[in-house]
Amino acid sequence: RHRVGVLISGRGSNMAALVAAAKAADCPYEVVLVASDKPDAAGLTHAAEQGIATFSLSPKGMAKAEYEAAIDGALREAGVETIALAGYMRLLSGDFVAKWRDRIVNIHPSLLPAYKGLDTHARAIAAGDREAGCSVHVVTEELDAGSVLAQARVPILPDDTPDSLAARVLVEEHRLYPQTLAEYVTR
Ligand code: GAR
Repeated sequence: RHRVGVLISGRGSNMAALVAAAKAADCPYEVVLVASDKPDAAGLTHAAEQGIATFSLSPKGMAKAEYEAAIDGALREAGVETIALAGYMRLLSGDFVAKWRDRIVNIHPSLLPAYKGLDTHARAIAAGDREAGCSVHVVTEELDAGSVLAQARVPILPDDTPDSLAARVLVEEHRLYPQTLAEYVTR
């Protein structure tokens, strides 16, 4: 099976969805490493409980190149072929992305190219949009700009807050990401 490394920064619910899907015998990928830039990320505990190798390193006080070299080393040591970003809230450098060209994917909580960056749900509500959603895309140097592999849409309801909308979108993220990653690694 294709070896996937997942990078997280927090809760890790998308990582958990990727891991859960990989339990199916016909899933074409397995998650071999979960790595975090936040040593206290809740997702690390879940990954360890699932018997998955974890790696964490805070970039505080390190040069970006040094930090990324450590992450790169951990991924390569684990034999990772494709990296799935799952709530990893740090921009990867052009050098890092170039080393993994077309082998990094991300899930973003908007219908790209709309609302790159942060606070996507608050921005969609403030704009009066009727629809929101999530996108799985290939990672390039430019933030949230690589080619979109798949999207899922949800309605924005009149009483929505950013939190209620995020919860509705998250259900779709957990469905879309495993399916899209499975297709991507068998492309
Ligand atoms: C998810 O909604 C993901 O789409 C978003 O952060 C959340 C992480 O939740 N990602 C980004 O905003 C990337 N810029 P999770 O840790 O429970 O998967």
